[in-house]
Amino acid sequence: MTVTFSSLLAQTVLCWKSFQALSSLDAIQLLLSVPSAESIRESSAFYTSNPHFAGQGWDQAKWTQEKWKNFGVHDTQVISYNTELPAPTDQQRLALIRDSEVLYEAPLTDSVGGFFPAFYSFVTNANITAPYIFANFGSDEDYDDLVENGVDLVGNIAVLKSADASSYLKTLGLGKSREVQIRNAQERGLAGVIMYPDPQNDNPITESNGYAPYPDGPARPAKMIERGGIGPLDSYKSGLTPKIPCIPISYADAIPILSALNGYGPLASDLGSRWHGGELAIHDVHYNVGPSPPGLILNLKTEAYLHPGQVHNVVGKIPGFLSDEVVILGNHRDAWGPGAGDPNSGSAALNEVVRSFGAAVRRGWKPYRTIIFASWDGEEIGQLGSFSWIQEHFKWLNVTVVAYLNVVVAGAGRNFHVKASPLLYKTALNAMTYVQSPNQTVVGQSVLDVWNNTGTGAIGTAGGGDAIRFQGLLCASTVDFGFSQGLEDSVFPYHSGLDDFNWMTKYGDPNWEYHLTSVRLWLAMAAHLSESLILDMHATDYAEALGKWINDLFKDQKGSEFCDPKALHDAVSRFAQVAQRFDRSAASLEVQRQGCSPHLRRAIDETNQAYIQLERAFYHESGLDSRPSFHHVLFEAAPWHTEKPALPGLRRSLESGNWTNAENWRDIIVSKVLKAANLLEGLDR
Ligand SMILES: *[C@@H]1O[C@H](CO)[C@@H](O)[C@H](O)[C@H]1NC(C)=O
Ligand SMILES: *[C@@H]1O[C@H](CO)[C@@H](O)[C@H](O)[C@H]1NC(C)=O
Ligand SMILES: *[C@@H]1O[C@H](CO)[C@@H](O)[C@H](O)[C@H]1NC(C)=O
Ligand SMILES: *[C@@H]1O[C@H](CO)[C@@H](O)[C@H](O)[C@H]1NC(C)=O
Ligand SMILES: *[C@@H]1O[C@H](CO)[C@@H](O)[C@H](O)[C@H]1NC(C)=O
Repeated sequence: MTVTFSSLLAQTVLCWKSFQALSSLDAIQLLLSVPSAESIRESSAFYTSNPHFAGQGWDQAKWTQEKWKNFGVHDTQVISYNTELPAPTDQQRLALIRDSEVLYEAPLTDSVGGFFPAFYSFVTNANITAPYIFANFGSDEDYDDLVENGVDLVGNIAVLKSADASSYLKTLGLGKSREVQIRNAQERGLAGVIMYPDPQNDNPITESNGYAPYPDGPARPAKMIERGGIGPLDSYKSGLTPKIPCIPISYADAIPILSALNGYGPLASDLGSRWHGGELAIHDVHYNVGPSPPGLILNLKTEAYLHPGQVHNVVGKIPGFLSDEVVILGNHRDAWGPGAGDPNSGSAALNEVVRSFGAAVRRGWKPYRTIIFASWDGEEIGQLGSFSWIQEHFKWLNVTVVAYLNVVVAGAGRNFHVKASPLLYKTALNAMTYVQSPNQTVVGQSVLDVWNNTGTGAIGTAGGGDAIRFQGLLCASTVDFGFSQGLEDSVFPYHSGLDDFNWMTKYGDPNWEYHLTSVRLWLAMAAHLSESLILDMHATDYAEALGKWINDLFKDQKGSEFCDPKALHDAVSRFAQVAQRFDRSAASLEVQRQGCSPHLRRAIDETNQAYIQLERAFYHESGLDSRPSFHHVLFEAAPWHTEKPALPGLRRSLESGNWTNAENWRDIIVSKVLKAANLLEGLDR
């Protein structure tokens, strides 16, 4: 390539404050030439080699800081926050007992090397001994089926199939978050919950289809335990986390427990299709639902404690020509186990992104907007690291953040996942056109081509990892993306002790090509946002998305009889008109950019400011009903692997028939949409 960063820097200086070093496209092309698989591999090997749960990450934070400085990002700090951290003791127990004889004692661990045992963060401490039932996924419908079939729920321990991160279950509409599963059980009077990942999650990559479990093959390892958060800390402290004990176990542990129910109570296969598909039949589990017969009980003891500690973020900054417009790229480092896929494929990718920008800086380049990189700690227990940092810098971030670009899982399968604020749809799609797919059936296919071909080609509602806090606290525009397990891929050992370097090199991403692709997408998005004179954000996309969400919501709901959506439709159509005019005028500024008049400069500044502030219009002081610390009225806290539909406050109220509250939420949303329209209109030229 003949252009260099420094030669491009020399052609700069359009006007005051507009020192565009290189066109957005040139910047992207140059940055994309830097990343290499070898350094991604090195980062992955390092992060996965030691336990680094929230608070344990000091050494890894220092290592990351050193790396970033060496890459050329000299302003890199480790920023620690005092907090309280959860940890399990070694006194937990799950035993299957018949007439005081212990038939099976679950090991509650799936790894060596000091990683945490089976554990849900912020679990309640208890020691219970009770009969048990098999309750499928523990949904309301599942419990209704049990009750209709004469199975008592109250006082039993529920054995549930986990359904948190399975692409297959999602295709059946059976995905469910662990928190909802545990909460449902509590509401139904169950005494406790034990949760295991049935290999049904992995269809078609199952033993019954001839695939060997990892490490011999790509199927689910029998001993893997899917840990997870039930929190966050503030909910725990306010007594809002579940009060019944719960623990994750492996399917190897579920086999003796479930087969001991064989012959007791109805068969799952007789309870309807939702109950079908369990893959432990080949291990002699008949999936009777129980209850367990007299004398057959489980002893479940959960024990965890809070201890004072610190989370350690690493934050690096490349000052741009504009210090008051900032693009932030982030990933979390803390992991339940080795974390090769979640989150350290993202951490390895982030290091490579930093190395690429560092290489550009070394060659004399300076970004137009300021770029910040963040390696967060404490995400798995409620985004504690990003939460603390955002709170500390709230006032500044509120006026400067253009976008927050997050990656949790960069490469752990071939399926591209992406969630974004509508303002950034074009940014995400644009990046996808620049970057070649590693999974081509025709030479030259971009990520966008392949993604469109899979038929899932739709951007999810914003959320994912620490993007949740940027949305919920700040109402910043966010993207989260990466490559994760698709339907035909090796089973990703999510949140387990087996999400390790060996799995990654054998099955997850042996050539690091999905990691590399995520690096390139991240670079393309960041450069596109940092280098464009006029931000390539589109208010029209927001108006269109809003219109669609509202139509979808009222299409499925008989709610419009009780909660008239007309004011919503009117507000959105006004927003749409204003947005269209605004985007058009922004595009016309782009055409005039060679000019230098103060009038043009002011117009450009105001336009960019309006795009930056637009998302903030959806800030609602008192937050969501169920989560007052989440202030964005259009979204709720959705993990990277889960789609949660938009308009949560209104949707929930309609679904529960709480019409007063629905009207309340309708009016709140109307006022925010009009605020967004006014913001654009105030600057409409
Ligand atoms: C837990 O409960 C079991 C059964 O009731 C009892 O045998 C055991 O001693 C208890 N363990 C502790 C540590 O309290
Ligand atoms: C692309 O990925 C999908 C899974 O997402 C897989 O089914 C397909 O075989 C892959 N194609 C190639 C050429 O690797
Ligand atoms: C892919 O999908 C996007 C959004 O749905 C659409 O705008 C675009 O034209 C499609 N591109 C290709 C190459 O199919
Ligand atoms: C954040 O920015 C919005 C406008 O974009 C403003 O209304 C709000 O007061 C700001 N919040 C704080 C705490 O500065
Ligand atoms: C409706 O929702 C509001 C807000 O969450 C709540 O205070 C109220 O009790 C609910 N009303 C009913 C009838 O459930």
